[in-house]
Amino acid sequence: MENEENIFEIEENMYQRFKYSIEELQRFFINALKEEPKNANASTFYTIPQCIPSDSQNRNAVGIDLGTSRCCLAVNRRDGIKIVALENTGERLLPSYVGYDEMHTKCGQVVIDRIRNYASSTVFDSKRLIGKTMTVIDKIWPFKVITDDDKIYIKLDTPHGEIRQTATEVAAVLLQYIKIKAEEFQGKKLEKVVLTVPAAFSLAQEEATREAAILAGWKTVMLLPEPIAASFAYFIDRPISNNSLLLLFDLGGGTLDVCVFKIANNQIEIISKNGDSKLGGRDFDNLLMDYFLNILHLDFNVSKLGNKKYKLLLECQKIKHNLSVRDLDQ
Ligand SMILES: Nc1ncnc2c1ncn2[C@@H]1O[C@H](COP(=O)(O)OP(=O)(O)OP(=O)(O)O)[C@@H](O)[C@H]1O
Ligand SMILES: [Mg+2]
Repeated sequence: MENEENIFEIEENMYQRFKYSIEELQRFFINALKEEPKNANASTFYTIPQCIPSDSQNRNAVGIDLGTSRCCLAVNRRDGIKIVALENTGERLLPSYVGYDEMHTKCGQVVIDRIRNYASSTVFDSKRLIGKTMTVIDKIWPFKVITDDDKIYIKLDTPHGEIRQTATEVAAVLLQYIKIKAEEFQGKKLEKVVLTVPAAFSLAQEEATREAAILAGWKTVMLLPEPIAASFAYFIDRPISNNSLLLLFDLGGGTLDVCVFKIANNQIEIISKNGDSKLGGRDFDNLLMDYFLNILHLDFNVSKLGNKKYKLLLECQKIKHNLSVRDLDQ
């Protein structure tokens, strides 16, 4: 049975969530740093890649970071790892936006640029829905989220009628677009991919991500926790310190990952991991949006923004970015 109303909890007070997350993280840090490394058999070890093998151009390595807000693609070349431009403008990062307003789907910045006119056929934040059976609805989402048969669907009004997509299908559109870019760049068909996933992802979320990659045409899909991928990248041009502890904090667009690693003999062992797959930059955007919506309402008597709210959202993101690069003493 389709049920649009009841199963979703609409979050009223984000401040409480931030406060709760921060308290929980404080507890996590204290516990993680006290914790002894777990039984070796039960732990997961990852060997830090130290150099790229000389035959690496034959290996067709492809890595994709399928982010909540933007995606990144890396491939190996004779002269090392290359980040591939995913936008036709040469921009390397692809905003994780998919547009369904034409027969062929579109991905990336072009979808953001058109969102004011095509909001009802635009999807973003699909990573926040993937592999889930329930979710918190975000007020800014232009699409409806419904459940049917214990599955979440994204309902869209497109110029050619109403359609519904799972978050897995939306992710598949992004992954297929990226696959084409990878193949164009490498000049050959590619079948194997490493996809990064948040450490806080459940098995169901991981499986849904894997399914999206298969739908996109990848034949072999390996998943790597995002914090592990980040530490591999960190050690690419640094000596790997032995017997040390590393704390990784990744506040992304939609997910917070916090991990404590032990590094020994070029291996990374995750000692402790925590995070929140519903806390990221998007939530800061929402706070800023609420702030300005309030001002518009109280000072200018504007309460209905319609699709102009997406313009406000983009402005809020700009403000957030600018605020974070201002000198503290200004
Ligand atoms: N200078 C900045 N100051 C503050 N926030 C920023 C800045 N630059 C980018 N961001 C925010 O960081 C987030 C994107 O970060 P990132 O690319 O790491 O996320 P992601 O990989 O897409 O998401 P996730 O890892 O959660 O799936 C966005 O919310 C963006 O607005
Ligand atoms: Mg990320």
